[in-house]
Amino acid sequence: MSRRSWVVLIAVLSAVALYRDRLRTILEQIYANIRAFDLPSAGAYDALVASVLEGFYARVAGEVATAYPGGKLLEVGSGPGRLAVRLAREAPGTTLTGVDISDAMVERAARRAAGAGLSERVRFEVGDVAALPLADGAFDGVVSTLSLHHWSDSARGLAEIHRVLKPGGEARIYDLAHWLWLPARGGDHLALLAAASPFGEGEVEIVRWPGSVPAFVLLQLRRQPLL
Ligand SMILES: C[S@@+](CC[C@H](N)C(=O)[O-])C[C@H]1O[C@@H](n2cnc3c(N)ncnc32)[C@H](O)[C@@H]1O
Repeated sequence: MSRRSWVVLIAVLSAVALYRDRLRTILEQIYANIRAFDLPSAGAYDALVASVLEGFYARVAGEVATAYPGGKLLEVGSGPGRLAVRLAREAPGTTLTGVDISDAMVERAARRAAGAGLSERVRFEVGDVAALPLADGAFDGVVSTLSLHHWSDSARGLAEIHRVLKPGGEARIYDLAHWLWLPARGGDHLALLAAASPFGEGEVEIVRWPGSVPAFVLLQLRRQPLL
C-alpha cells in the first residue's frame, strides 16, 4: 500500500473510533426504520411513501365515506394527513380528528388540512394510541392505515379504540399484509389480537392494492351496541 493510502486508512479508522457512538445511533435508526417500513422524517415519508399511496387512500376514503357519510370520525396514526383530507372532502358531513404520536406528522397534517381549507372540520393532535387523549364514546367511526405495525402496545391500542367508539361504532384498521410484516408472519395475528381485545372478535380481510397484489389487510371491529 502506498503512503497516501495508509494515511487515508488511518484517518478513516480514527474518525470511526471518534464517532462510533454517533455512527451506532445512526445505524440503529436505519435498522429500526427498515424494520418498521418507515423513513427517517415526516417530510421524507410524506414525499416518498405517502405520495405513492394516493390510490390506496382514495379507496379507503371511499369505503369509509360510504360507511360514514356524516358523524365524528377518528383517524389513528394519521401521519401527514393525506387520508384525512381526502376523507373530509368525500364525506362533507363528517368532522375528523387525527391523532399521531409524532409532532412532525401532526404539524404536517395540520398544514395540509389548512391548505385545503378544511381546518374547521379536520383537526390533529399529538397522542399515543395506547392512551388516547379523547373522551369515552366520542366517535362514530375509527380508521387507521399502516400504523398498527408501529404500535408498541397494540392490545392497549385496540382497547383505547374500543373506549372512544360509541356503542355500535366501528373501526377499520388497514395494515400491511402478514407476509410484509415480520412479527405477524405465519398467523392470524390480527384475528387473535381482536379476540383478546374488548371487541371480542374482528373480521380480517385481504386488501388487494395495487392491482391484484395482496399487500394490505383490513381488520374490522365493532363495539357492541347498547341493548
Ligand atoms: C407508516 S405511517 C402511516 C401514516 C398514515 N396513516 C399513512 O397511511 O400514510 C405510521 C404512522 O403511525 C404513527 N404512530 C406510530 N406509533 C403510534 C402510536 N403509538 N400512536 C399513534 N400514532 C402512532 C407514526 O407516527 C406514523 O405517522
